[in-house]
Amino acid sequence: MTDQTASPATRVVVLLGSLRADSYNRRIAERLRAEAPDGVAVDIATGLADLPFYNEELDSEGHVPTTAARLREHVGLADRVLAVTPEYNGTMPAVLNNAIDWLSRPYGVGALKGKPFAVVGATPTRFGGKWSHDDARRSATIAGADVVPDLVLSHSTLDADVFEEPEVFAKFLAALVALVDHRPSADVAA
Ligand SMILES: Cc1cc2nc3c(=O)[nH]c(=O)nc-3n(C[C@H](O)[C@H](O)[C@H](O)COP(=O)(O)O)c2cc1C
Repeated sequence: MTDQTASPATRVVVLLGSLRADSYNRRIAERLRAEAPDGVAVDIATGLADLPFYNEELDSEGHVPTTAARLREHVGLADRVLAVTPEYNGTMPAVLNNAIDWLSRPYGVGALKGKPFAVVGATPTRFGGKWSHDDARRSATIAGADVVPDLVLSHSTLDADVFEEPEVFAKFLAALVALVDHRPSADVAA
């Protein structure tokens, strides 16, 4: 029997910026899913590799590619969006950029519109993917997401391994909690 008095979980959908099966950032997302606090359900979006590159000609009502329609529905039903991503050539990987493009349309009513959004990640270089994370935040903002101000976590694995140093993983967990605790600006205005 389900507990009818419990409030529904806050659903956080993760957009992964790496397609590698053995991705370090995937492992971070999976551990966040495993260790999410009570009342928080973390779900990792699938199918990003199968999304076609965004093309307005493919994006016509009733003819949207199934992968894109599914992603829009998945994100649309979520309460929060967390991008977990490395950096490629000084910016976000194309797979994440493409997902944001699909989620930014239809213009003004895309699945990211008003959605609390944060970006975290780790890379084995000095700045931990900072440019990727800055760019993803800017892109999500332009796509209409409610990007959580000051939530920045670009971890360099040159400094410490996320999985060997409990205090480092604790920072990722704290970022997830900050995203969940963020009050959407629509609520603030209400
Ligand atoms: C095409 C490519 C470009 C990269 N460019 C950067 C970069 O600009 N900055 C950075 O910190 N790491 C860069 N890297 C290294 C990635 O951050 C590293 O491979 C990381 O582990 C990938 O994340 P993943 O383990 O989640 O797949 C690059 C890797 C590739 C394959």
